[in-house]
This record gives sequence, C-alpha cells and structure tokens, in this order.
Amino acid sequence: MPDFPQIDVLYARLFELALKGWGNTHPNPMVGALIVEGGEVIAEGYHERAGSPHAEVVAFSNLERKPEEGASIFISLEPCSTHGQTPPCTNAIIQSGIKRVIVCCLDPNPEHSGHGLEILKNHGIEVTLAPESIQTRFTRLNFIFNHQIKSGNPLIALKIAETSNGMVAERAGYPSRITEVEARVDMMNWRRLFPAICVGSGTVLADNPSLTARIGREIWCPVRLVIDSKLSTLSRDVTPRKLYSDQFTDHTLILTTTSLKNSQRVQRAEELGVQLVEVAADKNGRMLPTSLRAVLNKLKLNSVFCEGGPSLAQSLLEANEINYLFRYRSPKFFDSPDALAAPELDHYKLSDPVQAMLGKDRLTHGFL
Ligand SMILES: NC(=O)c1ccc[n+]([C@@H]2O[C@H](COP(=O)([O-])OP(=O)(O)OC[C@H]3O[C@@H](n4cnc5c(N)ncnc54)[C@H](OP(=O)(O)O)[C@@H]3O)[C@@H](O)[C@H]2O)c1
Repeated sequence: MPDFPQIDVLYARLFELALKGWGNTHPNPMVGALIVEGGEVIAEGYHERAGSPHAEVVAFSNLERKPEEGASIFISLEPCSTHGQTPPCTNAIIQSGIKRVIVCCLDPNPEHSGHGLEILKNHGIEVTLAPESIQTRFTRLNFIFNHQIKSGNPLIALKIAETSNGMVAERAGYPSRITEVEARVDMMNWRRLFPAICVGSGTVLADNPSLTARIGREIWCPVRLVIDSKLSTLSRDVTPRKLYSDQFTDHTLILTTTSLKNSQRVQRAEELGVQLVEVAADKNGRMLPTSLRAVLNKLKLNSVFCEGGPSLAQSLLEANEINYLFRYRSPKFFDSPDALAAPELDHYKLSDPVQAMLGKDRLTHGFL
C-alpha cells in the first residue's frame, strides 16, 4: 500500500463523493474518484447520472492538466474496462500518465472483475486494492447495482415497520404511527435511493400515501406502483388518492388483473391520467407475485422499495420474490384485538445484516 499519512480521511472523502450520486445513477453504480499529489487532494469527481462521464474522467477533467509524477488516483470502484455508453476508464487512466491507482472494491460482474486492474498493471501502473473493511463498505454501497449485475434481475426490497409485538397497524385499515422521526427520516433517504416504490391497494385505501421522498425542501418522486387487482382504489366511492391527484400523477402506475376494457374504474383511471398495466393473476385473481419483477424488467427499473402492506409483503415473501429486507422495529406495543400483524419475519435470515439505532427505533437491513 502506498504511504498516505491520512488514508482514512481520503477513504471517507471518497465515500462522500460516491454518495453524491445517491439515487441518480441507476442503472449505474455510485462512484467517486480523487487525485492526490504530495499527500494533498488536488482534484475530485463523481458519477452524476447514467450517461454522464465516469468519476475518474471527471476528476481528470477537473484537474485541467496532467497529473505530476508521483500522483495517485483513488477510485471507489474498479475502473471499467469495456465500452459502454462511455469509453473504458482504464484508457483514461493510462492516457493520464498516472502511475498509482488505489481501488476500493472490485467490479461485481464476474466477467469483468479484476480485468480493469489487470489492464492497468500491464501498462506498468502500480495498483492497490483497499483493505477488506474498506472493500466491504464500498461494495455494500452499491448493493442494488451489484444484485442486478450478478442476478440479471431487479432488486425487490421490502420495508416493514413493526411494533415490539410485531404489529404494523394499531387498527387494520387505518394509518398508524409505528416509528418516530429519526426512523422516518431514514426511510425517506432509502426512498430517495430507489427508482421505484410499490404498495398494495390496502395501503393506498388506508393511508392515502404520497410515496415521495421528502428531504429538506426537496420533494422527489420515484415511479409509484400500486398493486390493485380489482382497481378498488379507483372506485367512485373513493376520493381520488394523492397518488392519482398530486403533481406527480404521471409517475403512478397501477398493476391490475382487471381487463382494461371499458369498466367504470378503467374510465376513471383515464380521467385521472393514471396508467394501468395488466399483469398475470394468481388463482385468487390477485397479482401473481412474479409479475412485479416482470414489470420492473419491462420498465427497465433495476429495483423497487416495497412498502407493504402486510398482505402484499406476505405474498412476495412466500413466493421468494423479496431480495432485501428493511425491518424497522419500534419499542411500541399494540395490544388491541384490531391490531394488524406483520408477516412473521424472525425465521428469515439476513446475510451480513446492518443494524442502526434511530432514536428509540431499530433498523436491521440486509439481503435475504
Ligand atoms: N407498518 C408498515 O410498515 C405498514 C406498511 C404499509 C401498510 N401498513 C398498514 O397496513 C394496512 C393495510 O394492510 P393490507 O394488507 O390491506 O395492505 P396491502 O398489502 O398494501 O394491500 C393488500 C391488497 O393488495 C392487493 N393485492 C394484489 N395482489 C396481491 C397479492 N399478490 N398479494 C397480496 N395482496 C395483493 C389485494 O387487494 P385486491 O385483491 O383488491 O387487489 C390486497 O387486499 C393499513 O392499516 C396500513 O396502515 C403498514
């Protein structure tokens, strides 16, 4: 490892740079890069969005000159070695004349992993892979990208907020406050990461959610998927839900098993300007759980943050359609006979779970 007196500060800065792409780089990963001369950071870059230049290229361009002899570049992810929307970053590194590259984690694609580093080494560049703890941290950052690359499928994440006795609502069919402000802020950040969000019709009827990410003054709206077999949320007795009447209505799609011909509810969707997508039904006429993945693939969405409710969560879990779980647990206890239970989650084992205390609430998340 090259000798950098403040290497932890450099890794921390690199992580911050990669994070600047939070939620904006799909289907690409978040990546940061920084160039160091004589122990000083002299240029930085990050990948802003798919189709925009990669982090290394941005850092070189921000430098506006050739790096000096002895300069190093730190990159949060192994540089790409193939032509995609942009030329391979290994070329940019070689052409820059830089002779030292520090990489925080490998390309997750088994077909490319290590190739970028090999190419650089073959051009006489000294290449160092960061220590394992750093590799783990940077790999984890791009869990959505990694899953999509390795499995070829979008990542379906389930978020459940439950009380200490496993309840998701104090009274079925009504909204309840399960977690407190710190956890709710955290959920907003996760919403902001995912390009799509989904809920079942029961949640739309009970909670009338907007499903936007509200962070400070920013209101950001993902693609909003409502799973509603019979189009109950479009019944004339139901006042237009926020999802169908706010400024982001064109981001809402209803996945339904109802034929899209001439029913009153289909007509109401047209009036409201909400798109309907007909999906395959299970034997009870509800959405076949695998349809969600099929729709995401069709829409070229690499992931979805599924916020339940419990019925939809249960069927997706039973069908093994959930890849990643966000489980928020509050110390509250709902003992009313009308309380609604979460799916039984204790027997689902997460690999390498991450835990965080958010005020009095605890979040555990990881791959199922
Ligand atoms: N604490 C939390 O994390 C949380 C999150 C969300 C909601 N909630 C609470 O949960 C309650 C609503 O519960 P819910 O279970 O009715 O909500 P839900 O899971 O959002 O909606 C259930 C409805 O989705 C439709 N659906 C379509 N395909 C389905 C499938 N394959 N499997 C299951 N459902 C399918 C069904 O209606 P059709 O057959 O008519 O299509 C079903 O009745 C509310 O009180 C809400 O406040 C809590």
